[in-house]
Amino acid sequence: MTMIKIVFAICLASVLIGAACSIAQTDQPILKEVFAGHFLIGAALNDDAVSGKDPRAAEIVEKQFNTITAENVMKWEKIHPVLKSYAFDAADRFVDFGLKNKMTVIGHTLIWHAQVPHWVFVDSAGTLVSRDAMLARMHDHIATVVGRYKGKVKGWDVVNEALTDDGGLVKNKWLRTIGEDYVSKAYEYAHEADPDAELYYNDFSLDKPAKRDAAVRLVKDLQSKGLRIDGVGIQGHWGMDYPIREDLDAFIDSIGALGVKVMVTEMDVDILPPAFKYMGADITMKADLKKELNPYVDGLPEEAQKRLTDRYSELFAQLLSHRGIVSRVTLWGVYDKTSWLNDWPVRGRTSYPLLFDRNYQPKAAFYALVKTAEAKR
Ligand code: XIL
Repeated sequence: MTMIKIVFAICLASVLIGAACSIAQTDQPILKEVFAGHFLIGAALNDDAVSGKDPRAAEIVEKQFNTITAENVMKWEKIHPVLKSYAFDAADRFVDFGLKNKMTVIGHTLIWHAQVPHWVFVDSAGTLVSRDAMLARMHDHIATVVGRYKGKVKGWDVVNEALTDDGGLVKNKWLRTIGEDYVSKAYEYAHEADPDAELYYNDFSLDKPAKRDAAVRLVKDLQSKGLRIDGVGIQGHWGMDYPIREDLDAFIDSIGALGVKVMVTEMDVDILPPAFKYMGADITMKADLKKELNPYVDGLPEEAQKRLTDRYSELFAQLLSHRGIVSRVTLWGVYDKTSWLNDWPVRGRTSYPLLFDRNYQPKAAFYALVKTAEAKR
């Protein structure tokens, strides 16, 4: 038995008897070492992980990952809650944590339609502001936020989720107030604020052909205007049979052919039943939905754990096969208990999408990824 197998067996046994898996803490493989030479490996952090409220999450991140992304603290509503004032405390803590641990710090996100306050788009009478006024607000925001972390944040998700599944532009308030060039303006302003920062476009479902082609056009358009664009992030909120292998390959190849990087920026793998048609519901309140949509309240049965593990291995093996193009994989969270998927698309589920379980222990998927990466050496 290899060391990994022994540690895994001990972990499994200790989880079964409910004991703490302390041996794994000391003998645990280290993802950032295992993936060195392949790609950066990271996690999105919430404020509890860096403020001292959740020290065990911080410990995992410090040990395992070499890149971090701000899960929420840099979003407009958090960092710029009112017109004339910014709230930098949590974002400063996040950046300091990354720098202290010599990590690649990723800023998420400058321009998005969600988690942005309504006041951003309207005047004191509640009317949508003019194009010029909107560009001035966008410029102030980007110059201030990117400027503050100049030389500290390595790369920014400049624009997030601007494309529709059929390849058009999302009809958001940026488009309504500024027009189609709001996208290129955001890249122009970000580059002006920190000429050395990498600039990314970030979105979900980029494996779908029409959306992939739109992302290719978006990158080419920025390139043709002489603007900086370093990479495209596919969020990677994936499932047991999504994305289809061929589509993901085609996406990575198409973006790679443009000479920019591909990153998986928000990876999690959802094993729970699809719940989109109940979007927004609080299932803890509804007995029938509870049973149907939240089947693993008391833990993941072995059979489901194995399916999840196999799916993680399969996806990572695929990503590893695109050597030199995929530059980073970031998990959207550190451990299952604090994953956003416990509350999305419905509230109150017990979700299992990450590599560390609710007790901060590495899951079978974690050990499987170590093996997958070692096999690719
Ligand atoms: C999510 C966060 O994880 C949640 O905590 C928050 O309540 C909502 O946003 N796409 C993105 C991320 O780009 O910013 C989202 O993060 C998940 C979907």
